[in-house]
Amino acid sequence: MARLVRLEATGPLKINPADFPQDKPVFLCRCGLSKNMPFCDGGHKISRSELPGVLYTYDNAGAAVTSTLADPGCCPVVGTPGAAASPPPAAP
Ligand code: FES
Repeated sequence: MARLVRLEATGPLKINPADFPQDKPVFLCRCGLSKNMPFCDGGHKISRSELPGVLYTYDNAGAAVTSTLADPGCCPVVGTPGAAASPPPAAP
């Protein structure tokens, strides 16, 4: 079983210290490229070179782009990248 997850954030979410008091500021990953989930480790910096209108996939280490394709926008990509998207299954 595998899945693709579409993430558009290019930076972390800073937790309000009043909500979660800690010795240091806490940043949660929103880009999906951290190697220290759920915390940001700076891995999002690679996403700064991403171009609008392009959908990127990264290797398991989140360190290199493995493929790109035209971004289909709001609709999910189903199946192999580059293959025609399938409609979602009908509701029971
Ligand atoms: S937001 Fe994902 S590594 Fe920083």
